[in-house]
Amino acid sequence: MDKSLEKGKSDPNLLIMKHSLFLSFVCVILALLPHEVTAVELSLNNNAESFMLTSDTADYLGLLCAVHNHTREERLNWYRGIQPLDLRSGKNLNSSQVCISPLTPTDNGVTFTCLLESNTTMKVSVILNIKFPPILSGESSVTVEEEKSTQLTCGIQANPQAEMSWQKNGSTVIMEKSRYQQYLTSDTFQLTISKAQKSDAGTYTCVAVSSMGNQRRDFQLVVEDKKDAIPIEAISAAAVVGALTLLFGVFARRDKIFKKCMKKRDETSL
Ligand SMILES: *[C@@H]1O[C@H](CO)[C@@H](O)[C@H](O)[C@H]1NC(C)=O
Ligand SMILES: *[C@@H]1O[C@H](CO)[C@@H](O)[C@H](O)[C@H]1NC(C)=O
Ligand SMILES: *[C@@H]1O[C@H](CO)[C@@H](O)[C@H](O)[C@H]1NC(C)=O
Repeated sequence: MDKSLEKGKSDPNLLIMKHSLFLSFVCVILALLPHEVTAVELSLNNNAESFMLTSDTADYLGLLCAVHNHTREERLNWYRGIQPLDLRSGKNLNSSQVCISPLTPTDNGVTFTCLLESNTTMKVSVILNIKFPPILSGESSVTVEEEKSTQLTCGIQANPQAEMSWQKNGSTVIMEKSRYQQYLTSDTFQLTISKAQKSDAGTYTCVAVSSMGNQRRDFQLVVEDKKDAIPIEAISAAAVVGALTLLFGVFARRDKIFKKCMKKRDETSL
């Protein structure tokens, strides 16, 4: 099999391709540069400084890095986070393009850096701010014994942050402090039900509302009959232990009791 194909297979989210789409932008930038500026410079999608790029998930995102004011052939290298990107040699001279295809939620927050090989202190980074509709996850059926407490845990992936709420059988759950509590972190939304009752059973829905779209995920709560608070076995076991303790107590003290009697007898015989 072709080596480059295998590579593509190992990281399907990241497809690196050469593209000349942004070359026209670079030409414009070069034409605008004042002629007296001679220091070598790098640009990434026309930015000389590191920047944040905001995008929705998309078919692809092109990142074009270019050297300016260079007098010799300059080689450019790329990093995705701390991972070097393996570009085919010859495709990274004076300018280099990385194409992320498709752009997915897993690319959110990832930094791409372009560096000059001859002087790695010269670099420009872009941090990706990828917006997408909320993605919810979690165990969809939870069983609890009556009077016990339980949690429904809804996993959240969202950018921007979503507004979260719990619904039961279609209407918002009222948070009674003593019985229902909700807890929100950056990646989970939890509903704690203490002292579950039969009436708590039903369908709970984790609802996420964001400017990128809304999402719902259902959780079934099953409330089982309360088991005997103290099972018969426990009672009989406790009875046996109690009896043994009493018996051992008598054995341990037998000597003392015996001696006391002896003493009394001695006293009376005197
Ligand atoms: C890179 O730039 C140098 C100097 O400007 C030039 O001599 C060389 O031909 C360029 N190489 C490519 C592949 O564009
Ligand atoms: C590398 O680039 C930095 C920043 O532009 C510069 O200060 C430094 O002198 C360069 N180092 C070399 C060896 O060219
Ligand atoms: C919610 O729906 C379930 C199943 O349809 C039902 O058993 C339960 O009584 C309902 N609870 C409320 C509070 O309506």
